[in-house]
Amino acid sequence: PTWEDFDGRGVWRYDAALPFETGVSLPEGATPLHDVPRLESSIGVDRLRVKHEGMNPTGSFKDRGMTVGVRVAEQMGVERLACASTGNTSAALSAYGSRAGLETLVLLPQGKVAAGKVAQASLHGARILEVDGNFDTCLDIVGDLAERGDVYLLNSLNPFRLEGQKTIGLEILEQFRDEEESYPDRIVLPVGNAGNTAALYKCLRELVASSALGDADMPKLTGVQAEGAAPMVEAIEDGRAETRRWDSVETSATAIRIGNPVNAPKALPGIRETGGTAVAVTDGEIKAAQRELAREGVGVEPASAASIAGLRSLREEGVVTADEQVVCLTTGHLLKDPEAAVEAGTEPEAVPGTTQGVRDYLELK
Ligand code: F0G
Repeated sequence: PTWEDFDGRGVWRYDAALPFETGVSLPEGATPLHDVPRLESSIGVDRLRVKHEGMNPTGSFKDRGMTVGVRVAEQMGVERLACASTGNTSAALSAYGSRAGLETLVLLPQGKVAAGKVAQASLHGARILEVDGNFDTCLDIVGDLAERGDVYLLNSLNPFRLEGQKTIGLEILEQFRDEEESYPDRIVLPVGNAGNTAALYKCLRELVASSALGDADMPKLTGVQAEGAAPMVEAIEDGRAETRRWDSVETSATAIRIGNPVNAPKALPGIRETGGTAVAVTDGEIKAAQRELAREGVGVEPASAASIAGLRSLREEGVVTADEQVVCLTTGHLLKDPEAAVEAGTEPEAVPGTTQGVRDYLELK
């Protein structure tokens, strides 16, 4: 089928690549692949498209994993779902858990989750535990609970989550091929726990194994982290097979404020074997990229803008070349983190409550 045949099934259109034919669905997937002509020319690549995963039902790519993961939980008859989260996973799990009528518990690092995400988890009805510690501590705890059988774990350690997230890769390749008549040379994505990188690599491997994609057609998987939370970048630079745990992490891109990416052993080979790389960017570069994307009409949260910031940096270094066709993945919606948006955007201006007052203020003649 081609992209034009999309029939409202989103993720489940790719049921041949998934463990079931349908799931607990809102529905998710079928997100836009924007062109961004000004960014394309200012960064200086042949083609740049933005796959905006913020357009999923709860505003992030996590929905693609939850539609499969919660279906599995339902099938297994578990009582209580749980996850650790920097925010988006908790928003998605809360919505999909409620949809399935299951009890949901989310563990969040206290004071480090953007307002929109807490609001979602709260209204969709999860019990929210604010943990005195960072994301990695939350994941340690929820992992222990799952091992004891207290909860069913729906972090990206759950392989069914990654099955659903493979469909990002399938959609990118299909949309790009239909619209550009080629496959992208490179896919650039923000990296936190490295689940998405692992899922994309699995997608590419399965396509190659089934001869749907040539080995040489695999896009170079390129990961971007914030400078203050970059264990994956460190492992790539040092040529290590696993990451070193960073106990202290900091970045305004709170979604990727992670020091111990649990999917690193699956994701690092994906970056290496596709010929990709990993790069760290500053919070300032992330904010600038968020603004640039927004000025093309594409509203994303800070972690998502890291993909554009990373591409710009790699292009400046000459690692990415001018002839490349690139897809940047933007993982979450602007409204997830309203405070960051206000900080990166323009200031409201106070004016009088009359037409004449507004005209005078604007100095209209
Ligand atoms: N971008 C956003 C907006 C995210 O929320 C996350 C992860 C990532 C990128 C990184 O993806 O972990 O697959 O490498 N958020 C998780 C959460 C950790 O709890 O919402 P990854």
